[in-house]
Order: sequence, then structure tokens, then C-alpha cells
Amino acid sequence: MEDTAIVTSIDLPISTTVAEADGAILEITGGTPLSGQVTISGAKNSALVVMAGTLLCSQLCRIRNIPHLMDIERMGEVLIALGIKLKREGDALVVDATTIAHTKAPYDVVSRLRASFFVIGPLLARMGVARIPLPGGCAIGARPVELHVRGLQAMGANVHIEHGTVHAYVPGSGGRLKGAKIYLDYPSVGATETLMMAATLADGETIIENAAQEPEVVDLANFCRAMGARIRGAGTNTITISGVPSLHSTDYGIIPDRIEAGTFLVAGAITRSEISIAPIIPEHLTAVIAKLQEIGGQVVVDSPNRVRYMPSHTIAPVDIQTGPFPGFPTDMQAQFMALMAVCEGSSLITETVFENRLRHVAELNRMGADIRLNGNCAIIKGVHQLSGAPVLATDLRASAALVLAGLAAKGTTTIQGLHHLDRGYDDLEGKLRKLGANLRRYHSDGPIALGE
Ligand code: UD1
Repeated sequence: MEDTAIVTSIDLPISTTVAEADGAILEITGGTPLSGQVTISGAKNSALVVMAGTLLCSQLCRIRNIPHLMDIERMGEVLIALGIKLKREGDALVVDATTIAHTKAPYDVVSRLRASFFVIGPLLARMGVARIPLPGGCAIGARPVELHVRGLQAMGANVHIEHGTVHAYVPGSGGRLKGAKIYLDYPSVGATETLMMAATLADGETIIENAAQEPEVVDLANFCRAMGARIRGAGTNTITISGVPSLHSTDYGIIPDRIEAGTFLVAGAITRSEISIAPIIPEHLTAVIAKLQEIGGQVVVDSPNRVRYMPSHTIAPVDIQTGPFPGFPTDMQAQFMALMAVCEGSSLITETVFENRLRHVAELNRMGADIRLNGNCAIIKGVHQLSGAPVLATDLRASAALVLAGLAAKGTTTIQGLHHLDRGYDDLEGKLRKLGANLRRYHSDGPIALGE
């Protein structure tokens, strides 16, 4: 790998800070048809866990296709707190984890990014010790970590929780985890990733059964393999990892973000517009594409990494139940709810992954939607048109749903709580504006230039 200067801070060209985003308002004037092409950024959830995975390697790693997001900046802060050196080079991130100076992650950073808990696996595997504050509750549910902890214990780690921090260490001299057979009660994405990373440097073979099959798990496995790890079966429900003594430098590109891609396909559907998106991996979007076809739209695969959405005159109702991959992604549930709000008929959306992920219902109803909640089910009676209103983003994908609803609504929608949006969408506003959407971000003391 090319020699490169490393600095100890991460310099991401994000236009807003959390404080700025908190005070900012996104104003959308709906009803404008969209058209054109969108470039999809690297997958947030892959990039976050691959950044954690670089801790496994005592040589430089270069990760390409890193999106420009607040969550990425926060994961960068976690790595820096551990003594890792980072350098941003455009869309690439160079990580120098030659030396890990600290094995304790700071609470103030972990509490703001659940995915930062995932460093526990690689830290424990490489250093034999890790102290990570519990990520705590989250806007979309309790999100516990007992599957991560039990798996690490099965691999020989001693784990206890004290003062809100998970203390984990590998007893005995050498401090190496041992391969184990682990059955996950639920195919948790984060637990699968934590344990897969931990197992790469363990003594012997680890088998993870009922593993998550999400594309981001496969991406992490491919990244680890590029560093010399021996992993089979990623993308199926059984992953086998044969531990190796150490991993080596690599230059690796993150997969495109299937949730960003899905969000733009719904933008096409809800505004009845033709939109082309690339680069994407169409197989990652099978469930989403199936539902878009069920509402009457056409999704044409133009080339191996490009699809085009062609709208229908009417939007037919569909029933959706979220589930682990290859099921319908919970991260697309809110966006589809916005779409179903304007369908011709009644739809039922059942959220099975997170217990508190329907808070956008109240906000969509403020915009004239007719949605009733019954436990984890939303019964959506399509209305002819939504009407613009002031609304509040309650989590990342809920904020995307409100943007989509605003694009389709009559009149002006103003969205607050934009720090949620900035966590996970790389220049959503700039990309929508290029498609012809009419939106601007402003502070009470004047407009903020964003994404131009
Ligand atoms: C990841 C994604 C998130 C996505 C989710 C499900 C990242 C950074 N985030 O989150 O965007 O919505 O997958 O596709 O990759 N659970 C337990 N015990 C555990 C772990 C999880 O009960 O130890 C439960 C959770 O509370 C939740 C369900 O399992 O109800 C799914 O969680 P999980 O797959 O672990 O999601 P995350 O990895 O947190």
C-alpha cells in the first residue's frame, strides 16, 4: 500500500454539526415531479462495522467508498479514542491501527452511536481485553447486547457489567479467544458481526449458527478475508471462521447502500417519477423491488449495477412484514409507510424487528395520512393527497419517510430534528435537488448551504 501521512483526527466534509442540525429546518415544497439519475453512496452499516474491523489489523488499511455521515464521524471518534490514527482521502479512509493505545471506549461517544459497541469483538480478539460502555436505549427500541456477550463468553471471555460498562477479558497467558460453536437465538446483525470479527484471531474454529445473512455481514466477511481471515458461509445462516494468528494490510471498497437506494426508489414511486439509481447490487434489494412491483411500478435492471424505477398511474396497496434478510428490511419500513399513505386502498405494515419503530405514524398523520396503530401493526388507509405540515423527525429512517411524504404533499412541509437525517444519508438534499426536488435547509438566522 502507498505510504500516506496519518493524522490523529478525522476530517469529514460534513456541512453541519449536530448542534446546527438540531436548530435547522428542512423546507420542502411538494408536488414537483422528479427525474434523472442518482449516485448511491457506500453502505453506512458496512462502513461502520468495517471501521471497527480495522482494529483486528496491525498494519495500515485503506477503506474506499466511505459515505460522508455523522455516524461515520462518530465511529472515527471512537477509533481515535482508542489511539488509532485516521486520515480521510476523499471517499477513502486510511486507518493505522498498528498500535492500540487504549482498550476502553469513552461513554460520551459510544452512547451516541450504538454500532460503536461492535468494537468489543475486535478489541478483545487482538488485545485480550475491552471495556465498552453499554450503548443504552435507543429511539427505536431497547436494543440489548446479550447475544454479543454470550457469544464472547462461549469463546472463553470473562464478561461482567459494572457501572454501565461491559468489562471483557480473556483469562490466561496469551489472552487469545478460543473457537466455539455459537447458536444465536435471533439472527442479530450486530452480534453476528461482533462474533465473526472476534473469531478471526481466535484459536481454532468458530461456527455461528442462525447467523444474520444481511449483505453488510457479507461485506464485513469479505473485508476480513481481504486481510487474510478464513471465513466461509457468510450470507448463509451458518458462518465458519478458522482463526489465524494475525491479519494484514488491505485496500477494500464498501458495497453500495441498499437502504439509500431503496429510499430513492420510493422517492420515484411517491412522486410518480422515473428515476435511475447506480451503483447498486440489485440482489440486495429483492424484497424492496418486489413490493414496488406489487404497487404497480416497474423496476428495470438496466445494467448489472443500475436500476430504473418507472411509475404507475396508481399506487396499489401492499402488506409488508419486516424481518431479517432476505426479508423486508426494517430500515425501509418508514419510507414504505409514507408511500402507502397515498395508495389506493388499505395496507398493513407489521414491524417485527424493533418494538418501537412506528413513531413516524403520528407525524405522517399530521400531514393528512390515515394510519392507525395496533401494537406493532400499522393499518394505513390511503388518502388522495398529503398536505404539507410542520413535522419532527424521530429517528433516522423516520426522517427519510417525512422527506418522502413532503415531496408528494401539497404545499410546504418543514422538518425539524435533522440530526437524525444527517446520521445516515449522504447529501440527501443535494441528490434530491439534482432530481428537481424543491427543498432548502435553513436556520432561523438564515439559510445553510448544504450539498451544493
Ligand atoms: C443493524 C443495523 C440497523 C438495522 C438492524 C436490523 C447497523 C449499524 N445497524 O442493527 O440499521 O435496522 O441491524 O437489520 O448495522 N437483539 C437482541 N439481543 C442482542 C442483539 C439484538 O435481542 O444481543 C434484538 C434487537 O433488540 C432487535 C433485533 O435483535 O430487536 C435486531 O437487532 P440487530 O440485528 O442486532 O440490529 P443491530 O445490529 O443493532
